[in-house]
Amino acid sequence: MKTRVNALHGSPGLALASVVPGEVERQVADSGAVLLRGFHWDLESFERFSRKLCRRFYRIASRERLPQGQSDGFTARAPESNITLLAHSEASYRPFAEPELAFFACLAAPVEQGGEGLIVDGRAFVQRMPDALRARFEDEGVIFESRWEPPRWQAEFETDSRDQLEEIRQRYPSLEWRFEDDIMHYRCRRSAIQADAAGAKVFCNAILAHLPQVPHPRYRDARAYALETNQVRFGDGEPLSAAVINQLIDTQDAVAFENRLADGDVLVLDNSRVMHGRRPLERDCARVLLTRFGYRQA
Ligand SMILES: [Fe+2]
Repeated sequence: MKTRVNALHGSPGLALASVVPGEVERQVADSGAVLLRGFHWDLESFERFSRKLCRRFYRIASRERLPQGQSDGFTARAPESNITLLAHSEASYRPFAEPELAFFACLAAPVEQGGEGLIVDGRAFVQRMPDALRARFEDEGVIFESRWEPPRWQAEFETDSRDQLEEIRQRYPSLEWRFEDDIMHYRCRRSAIQADAAGAKVFCNAILAHLPQVPHPRYRDARAYALETNQVRFGDGEPLSAAVINQLIDTQDAVAFENRLADGDVLVLDNSRVMHGRRPLERDCARVLLTRFGYRQA
């Protein structure tokens, strides 16, 4: 089983607004991902389209938003840095408020080669991964650790008040942290394998975008995103070994659907089932990819 991506094709002059939201939801329910190609839109109509599918949106903590006035404040530009981003589900290193739908809109595709998007169906992943590893993740879950400066933790929790932080921690027993001056040492235990919106078992999480390093030999020159102050552990506290990380990356590569977005493409993903990432460009060049994450209507 590999990742499948459904597609809806427009024709010249046909507006994104003409796409029926129920049809998008049907396609997303089928494969977890739908590519809308050949429809006309601008920032405002892209945002309006997403509001037909989502009642509210996720405030992206780690990225710059578009200037107010042009946008409703929930659209961000994907980082331009020319790196590999391994497949992940958005914001699923926390125990709350994981976005349900992800929107990616390609305003200007890169002119250089490479830069393929990675789309990874968590159902295909869970079937393909080594049995022993699946069993361990199911039994133990996973622990995410981070070291966050104030701007990051304030954005993650939408507060700068230590009292409000304490209230949040009491609501979510899987959250832990300690402060060193104003630096938060964050720790969260959660499932790595769970049921998606339809009840199917999925490997859909933030593990591969939360690694302290990427040891895979195939990725040695791929500038894969990693951060030394991050850590991922099994639920018993043991850090994921290089061998385990490499098995996960091999599984990603075996089931991934890879494609380059063209100008005007809009991709809608079920963030509870499908992970996203990208490969680097062969040479640095400009591109504009808009991202938005939301919570469904009703
Ligand atoms: Fe992401």
